Amino acid sequence: MSFKALSILAAFIGAANAAITRRVACPDGVHTATNAACCALFPIVDDIQTNLFDGGECGEETHESLRLTFHDAIGFSLSKGAAGGGGADGSMITFADIETNFHANNGIDEIVGEQAPFIAKHNITAGDFIQLAGAVGLSNCPGAPQLEFLFGRPAATAPAPDLTVPEPFDTITDILARFADTGFSPAEVVALLASHTVAAADHVDPSIPGTPFDSTPFTFDTQVFVEVQLRGTLFPGDGPNQGEVQSPLHGEIRLQSDHDLARDSRTACFWQANVNQQAHMASSFKAAMAKLAVLGQDTSTMVDCSEVIPVPPPFTGTATIPAGLSQNDIEQACATAPFPALQVAPGPQTSVAPVPPS
Ligand code: HEM
Ligand SMILES: *[C@@H]1O[C@H](CO)[C@@H](O)[C@H](O)[C@H]1NC(C)=O
Repeated sequence: MSFKALSILAAFIGAANAAITRRVACPDGVHTATNAACCALFPIVDDIQTNLFDGGECGEETHESLRLTFHDAIGFSLSKGAAGGGGADGSMITFADIETNFHANNGIDEIVGEQAPFIAKHNITAGDFIQLAGAVGLSNCPGAPQLEFLFGRPAATAPAPDLTVPEPFDTITDILARFADTGFSPAEVVALLASHTVAAADHVDPSIPGTPFDSTPFTFDTQVFVEVQLRGTLFPGDGPNQGEVQSPLHGEIRLQSDHDLARDSRTACFWQANVNQQAHMASSFKAAMAKLAVLGQDTSTMVDCSEVIPVPPPFTGTATIPAGLSQNDIEQACATAPFPALQVAPGPQTSVAPVPPS
């Protein structure tokens, strides 16, 4: 080995050692952290895994906690300044009396009620807790990315105004405009909607609570991007099913917004690009969530505590056309690339089971 190679190697080992010696032992005697401030989070992570997520499930509380990260953070506006809300500041919980009554937040009161006692018990702001719980919960879903977690949001000072959270019956023009006003591009909007692969609706059609958006609501796979692309029937008008599209899969519900995002020329190719592209879906979701989680926050005063987020189990399967259907049932919409060829799941057509309440 040349002297030059040796000195590069020595410098590399030196840097690695410095990184290791920078870790501090936490007072619990179990964990180490790159920043001592992160030590305080390990007991919170353990508590919520056991007592909020039922021992580490990708179940209803995980789904609701992920939805809450969005509904809290999107209370933000580049054009309106402070009057548009404080972003990911915990105002959904701090000002729950106001924000949970907004129409788009229907059902959010449940998870707000479940999370509030953990915030009261631990030394953490509502803004930090909401994003921490969303990231920890998601780590229970096979195929999910390990989300970034920055620590240090101050307490919220005011509620977000109404109408910051998009509704499933909004037009794509309105939805993209709302997201653009928080700094998100159409590609990032589609990236964020990977969240609907671990999701169900209780309130879109209240007669069928717990109805999933895809056939695998406990797995962070790309199946939602396939199933939303199947031909579906829009419920007309603004009746009780406003914003709902009937999926050809029995037991599954589709949001009009997801249906339209999969077909609109501004977003259809981004949508299709996720189909059976697990790594792309996970990495683009992770990047968009990192942005969402700090909307309105001063990241220069925050500490990177991503290391407290558990590493999610992998997903090793592939996307499929649901049993009993064929590639012909796909309503292809991207103008520049064909829909990927997928295997049809074997067996007769089955019905999708609801997500049980816990
Ligand atoms: C165009 C934007 C969006 C619209 C219109 C929308 C709308 C909805 C609606 C209507 C529900 C069903 C709520 C219920 O009836 O119980 C829902 C559920 C959900 N949403 Fe979204 N959403 C959007 C974007 C997002 C984003 C960006 C995230 C997270 C990053 C997210 C995460 C979730 C999750 C995880 C659920 C499932 C909740 C559960 O199963 O309890 N959504 N969404
Ligand atoms: C509570 O958390 C803050 C910010 O992380 C920290 O500065 C403070 O020392 C903590 N207080 C207690 C009692 O642990």
